Amino acid sequence: LTVQVNKPGAAIQPTMWGVFFEDINFAADGGLYAELVKNRSFEFDVPRMGWEEVKQDSAGGSILIINRREDNANNPRYARITVKAPAGAYGLANEGFRGIGIEKGKQYHFSMLAAAPAGAGLKARLVLLNEKGENIGEAALSGFGGNWRQHKAVLTATATAAKGKLQVLFSGEGEIDVDMVSLFPADTWKQRPGGLRADLVQMLADLKPGFVRFPGGCIVEGRDLLNRYQWKKTVGSPEERKLIINRWNTEFRHRSTPDYFQSFGLGFFEYFQLAEDLGAAPLPILNCGMACQYNTGEVVAMNELDPYVQDALDLIEFANGDTNTKWGKLRADMGHPAPFHLTMLGVGNEQWDAQYVERYRVFEQAILSKYPDIKLIASAGPASKGPRFDYLWKELKGSRAGFIDEHYYMPPEWFLANAGRYDHYDRKGPKIFAGEYAAHTREGKEAESRNTWGSALAEAAFMTGLERNADMVHMASYAPLFAHVDAWQWRPDLIWFDNLRVVGTPNYYVQQLFSANKGTQVVPVLRNGAVLAGEDSLYASAVIDAPAKKILLRIVNVSSRPVSFNVMLEGAVAAGQAPVQQVLTAPNTGDINTLDTPRQIMPAEQTLSASRNRIRVTAGPASLNVVAVPY
Ligand code: AHR
Repeated sequence: LTVQVNKPGAAIQPTMWGVFFEDINFAADGGLYAELVKNRSFEFDVPRMGWEEVKQDSAGGSILIINRREDNANNPRYARITVKAPAGAYGLANEGFRGIGIEKGKQYHFSMLAAAPAGAGLKARLVLLNEKGENIGEAALSGFGGNWRQHKAVLTATATAAKGKLQVLFSGEGEIDVDMVSLFPADTWKQRPGGLRADLVQMLADLKPGFVRFPGGCIVEGRDLLNRYQWKKTVGSPEERKLIINRWNTEFRHRSTPDYFQSFGLGFFEYFQLAEDLGAAPLPILNCGMACQYNTGEVVAMNELDPYVQDALDLIEFANGDTNTKWGKLRADMGHPAPFHLTMLGVGNEQWDAQYVERYRVFEQAILSKYPDIKLIASAGPASKGPRFDYLWKELKGSRAGFIDEHYYMPPEWFLANAGRYDHYDRKGPKIFAGEYAAHTREGKEAESRNTWGSALAEAAFMTGLERNADMVHMASYAPLFAHVDAWQWRPDLIWFDNLRVVGTPNYYVQQLFSANKGTQVVPVLRNGAVLAGEDSLYASAVIDAPAKKILLRIVNVSSRPVSFNVMLEGAVAAGQAPVQQVLTAPNTGDINTLDTPRQIMPAEQTLSASRNRIRVTAGPASLNVVAVPY
């Protein structure tokens, strides 16, 4: 193999490898958003879903859900608990999102809004229970007044439970109204109150993503326009964020998760903040006036598109605007006076036909007139749609979109056959955002079973093609990102978790090997003068990290035999520290990582020796190899 270090080509965009976040598979509520109480404000369609009545000893009482829609349209319901417990206790228990994950020795922050005009003497006990119903931590609250006020307590867990519960019990006699009953681990990401699950964010941080695409996916579209994602309803104080049913609540092809709602505790402010924390560019996608084509296929009338367009304009002001603008001020009031440096905006997710094109054009005109520097992302949707995809490309090619978003959920063979997909794309049109992709294989019994080593290897082969075409491909993201093992609707997914643990799939480590070794410029890597894009089951690409003076060579071997190469550097000699080869492989292409066996497939490192401009590299059977050569 010859690596032509002396012929640097296209710049690798800082955004090249990013992440696609969607609240699917309990990725937000029940996942990244660390709230442990399900249906904390009694706003699910079934108001007491997730809650059960608790009576202890001789206590009694009743629970009423009160709806004050006229007074509080965003958070209309609360629970009125009438307590008759001179002895014992009466109240509610919450089951959490497939249980509450509790860890021994850790602290948990409880809070609730309460008003007790007829219950000032009531005392509350908050109890963490393990799976056997044993008390593993508690705290007390009293001093309830006549007006709504937030009451807080800290609980320390004395034992671990993966599927615990929280009891909110009252003793005494009287009536108390409660709302926004909440429990968070104290050690959220950056210790932010009401923040994100630290172990899950850490997985993202370890990817060093160039961008964070949010908030989806199909949830941007919604099943119908009423339930589309509206960013303005996801900012401001959490109790003001109006909950809606998650579009994945009743999935049409896969599994139903009837208790899946969007609290928007993780809303647009938090998404921007997350991107900033990760050092990634924020990449919001907005509804373009079209609901999910697989469900209602509802579209807004063209003469009623304006509010949708205004949402896009206002979002740019929210992210970047001066603090004396309406939306810039809200950002500052939420704790971030500095701009979020939004440079890109997606219009629509997987839309279709002429209806999309005519709506996209209205957005384009309005946004680029006011914000000519914003790069718009238009979507060609799933490549599997053939004529629809081609139609959209044809229409959008001449637009002023900065990027076209392409999606592919295909078998591994497709990824292997398409490693050269962008070699011959027309360079004159918009750039490519490979916004959603994953190699789909057969399923087995474990939730993680579709994330096989074989699927990851095929993605690695394909990614060498994305990298080789970095002049054209500016962004790429695997999808979906997260899935809870007990509450998923779609698989494969990049990262699996339960209430206490998280596991990176082989696909995750493929992404990491590329994104954490991004480089700054593509350099040609040739065998006998030709690129390696599938010949003899081999794929290769290379970049240099110019400031770090490092060559990063990727070799993917999808055959079942080892292949050895003399790697010749052209225009550079190896210098300084010895080259390092990172290897990702597994004995069988069907192998997977699971929460119980998380480290089966992980990168391993070995040093190589170089003699001036020559390095001997062996790519084992079914392996991804990243060779870093200081020069
Ligand atoms: O990633 C899962 C879904 O796949 C996304 O919501 C949608 O954009 C695509 O169809």
